[in-house]
Amino acid sequence: MKVLIVGGGAREHAIAWKLVRDNPSLEIVAAPGNPGIAELGRCVPVGGSTDVAALVALARAERPQLTVVGPEAPLDVGVVDAFRAERFPIFGPTRAAARIESSKTFAKSLMVRAGVPTARAERHTDPAMAKRAAAKLEGPVVIKAAGLAAGKGVIVADGLDDASAAIDAMLRDAVFGAAGAEILVEEFMRGEELSIFALTDGTSVLPMLPAQDHKRLLEGDQGPNTGGMGAYAPVSIATPALVSDVVERIFHPTLRALRESGCAFTGLLYAGLMLTAEGPKVVEFNCRFGDPETEALLPLLDTDLLPLFLAIAHGEPVGDAPLRWRGLHAVTTVVAAAGYPESPRKGDRIDLPSPVAPANVHVFHAGTARAADGSLVTAGGRVFAVTAVAESLDRARAESAAAAEGIRFDGRHFRRDIGWRELARDARAP
Ligand code: AMP
Ligand code: GLY
Repeated sequence: MKVLIVGGGAREHAIAWKLVRDNPSLEIVAAPGNPGIAELGRCVPVGGSTDVAALVALARAERPQLTVVGPEAPLDVGVVDAFRAERFPIFGPTRAAARIESSKTFAKSLMVRAGVPTARAERHTDPAMAKRAAAKLEGPVVIKAAGLAAGKGVIVADGLDDASAAIDAMLRDAVFGAAGAEILVEEFMRGEELSIFALTDGTSVLPMLPAQDHKRLLEGDQGPNTGGMGAYAPVSIATPALVSDVVERIFHPTLRALRESGCAFTGLLYAGLMLTAEGPKVVEFNCRFGDPETEALLPLLDTDLLPLFLAIAHGEPVGDAPLRWRGLHAVTTVVAAAGYPESPRKGDRIDLPSPVAPANVHVFHAGTARAADGSLVTAGGRVFAVTAVAESLDRARAESAAAAEGIRFDGRHFRRDIGWRELARDARAP
């Protein structure tokens, strides 16, 4: 069987690795892929992951039995709709269903209609009215561009001056272009963040283990926001009871509302949650696997994803057998390039140790490329995601950091404290 994977980051490397581990005879084709995925299959350059016509042409040439889409950008431009029109089985939501991520105003009104717990928000296009709405809120105010802004469209403003500046930047100065022509002025939620992913056929919900991302650049969650500097799973405060509650009060009503709006969601629905004093509330939905949480989760997963991906891609029920997990801990450390996140430098030569890592450590390629002479060089802000699996979280953290240390290139940097909240909880436990 041939599987086409769309994307070329560590998330897509982890998906390819998991599929091949459970199905060694699988033929993997990745577009565009990366040098890590190239060790598992064939990589085909395409113009970009939003070039739907090029992806359809590739599918016509390769005739994959399954296509799995990693990033949100191709989903947002309708790659699933285009593949379905030509009867290529594909795992992921349609363009209309992907609005749960690509339009924060769509997501917010859907949640309000479905009674899903989330922060109160107002949508605005006029700066003066937006500022009046911000002034009515107490404490910090969150200003969000409605459209996709490469993870940068959310500003948590400490006071009214900062909120006004953010409103002007988006509505008046169009710093995010069309993505910021409409904004949400949102109430601030206090608590710990948690990511819960669920596979869904549109109705059934198969939740994955909860995970925690580390968005800030520096240890102790300091410094600017990034695409994610690491992740770990499982998370002890996310008990099975909490996951059931999230499935009942968040996933099911959201999926029902999407069905009722005529855009049933199939694929992977990602709930970004805030664990507030009043219970879990939705910060955002994503319409695809999270990065770097996926790199932490998949090495812990026993269940083969291939039959589930195939069922969902064919529009068949996914069943209700819970996913099986290995009962271990995983820590993913992201190894970033010089200058990340502001202006990552490309082309630094990478030295990988040999062997690259011990058997319980997985080195997933993110922003790497082959130079003309065949050597491995940096090619993006996040260069590797290094996942260690171990009996304890602290061990997984230490082994992940040690393996990250062994990867050498100029300007390399990473956090050594992934999982620190959980480790502080362990230390406090009796
Ligand atoms: P988003 O792109 O919606 O995930 O927002 C990016 C980050 O901003 C989230 O991961 C949170 O850390 C923070 N954030 C967004 N909305 C809120 C909110 N209403 N209250 C507190 N923090 C928020
Ligand atoms: N881990 C954050 C994201 O994938 O959007």
